[in-house]
Amino acid sequence: MSAGLGLEVVNVVNKLQDVFTAVGSSTSGIDLPQICVLGSQSSGKSSVLENIVGRDFLPRGNGIVTRRPLVLQLINRPAPKTNGVVAPPAAAPGTDSAINENEWGEFLHLPGEKFYDFNKIRAEIVRDTDAKTGRNAGISPLPINLRIFSPNVLTLTLVDLPGLTKVPVGDQPRDIERQIKDMLMKYISKPQCIILAVTAANVDLANSDGLKLAREVDPEGTRTIGVLTKVDLMDQGTDVVDILAGRIIPLRMGYVPVVNRGQRDIDTNKSISSALDHERAFFENHPSYKSKAQFCGTPFLARKLNIVLMHHIKSSLPDIKARIQQQLAKYTAELQSLGGPMGEGNPGNVVLSVITEFTNEFRTVIDGNTNDLSLNE
Ligand code: GDP
Ligand code: NA
Ligand code: MG
Repeated sequence: MSAGLGLEVVNVVNKLQDVFTAVGSSTSGIDLPQICVLGSQSSGKSSVLENIVGRDFLPRGNGIVTRRPLVLQLINRPAPKTNGVVAPPAAAPGTDSAINENEWGEFLHLPGEKFYDFNKIRAEIVRDTDAKTGRNAGISPLPINLRIFSPNVLTLTLVDLPGLTKVPVGDQPRDIERQIKDMLMKYISKPQCIILAVTAANVDLANSDGLKLAREVDPEGTRTIGVLTKVDLMDQGTDVVDILAGRIIPLRMGYVPVVNRGQRDIDTNKSISSALDHERAFFENHPSYKSKAQFCGTPFLARKLNIVLMHHIKSSLPDIKARIQQQLAKYTAELQSLGGPMGEGNPGNVVLSVITEFTNEFRTVIDGNTNDLSLNE
């Protein structure tokens, strides 16, 4: 998986995940960050997510393709060691549709079945969408839950969502606009949701439904990143420079322009890695962007996401620690009332020492990166 959220943040989040696992379901009030895409139908939301993950597996295309929320849990799982040496990744760069024995997907609705072929994952998403919503453009708030296990991902949840639309087609209800809006609100109103507000660069930013809705739930703009897709489809002589400079609709965390695969690329199975090469060449050679090419494209978006995640974790640490201490006090009291043994062997102490150690390590990582953490790049 290629776009590469940095290794440090991968380690930090995975440790945090381990702590949660150790603490168990009693702390289910604590939520790890989720990243949701928000925007109009066919603005390129699924394409953006897929590029971030670096594998081909999401249904994409013109019209309403994503018709149910897809809750995608990426789970970091180290590759098994052979003779004390970590096995190298089986898939070489540029083979992002290749099968790798250390990477697979599992659907909640198909327990026990492992999908090593990411094309089959896409086929199952399409099949189950049709099964629950019919083929005639119907929508449903019933999510599809997919977990992807891999040594190359950050333990993180990404949510692909249906796009905002106004006019019902096919079997869609007459109040389609409100139904989709309600569906999206459930995800984006959570404070731990980082919103990628996706707008196609070839439409007027002032009409961006994604930005409008993001502002309703995040008026301060502390967890919204603007993503401008289809920069390659803009009329010659026009560009997004004024938007990037914050002169049109300023966004605290700014905008990242990207170039995803077009419909023709999808039809001809263009690989993600060649799409990323094409994207880099586009920005580096374009007269409007070449002076700022390092702030353009999917790798920069992934880096920005990284920074936001770091901030998010940093700001939620005190709360996480307080909640764990609360749980600990509660269980200690319960144990005492049962006359149970206290002291060294108390599992609560283990949990507390894990979280303390984690907090210290996290501080080291954060302090080492403080210069990187500016949001106004
Ligand atoms: P969604 O409905 O928002 O999830 O959008 P999709 O990711 O399914 O993309 C809709 C269509 O737009 C597909 O045909 C994509 O190939 C195309 N598309 C998305 N992003 C870009 C882009 O940056 N450039 C070009 N040329 N086409 C894009
Ligand atoms: Na679409
Ligand atoms: Mg989609």
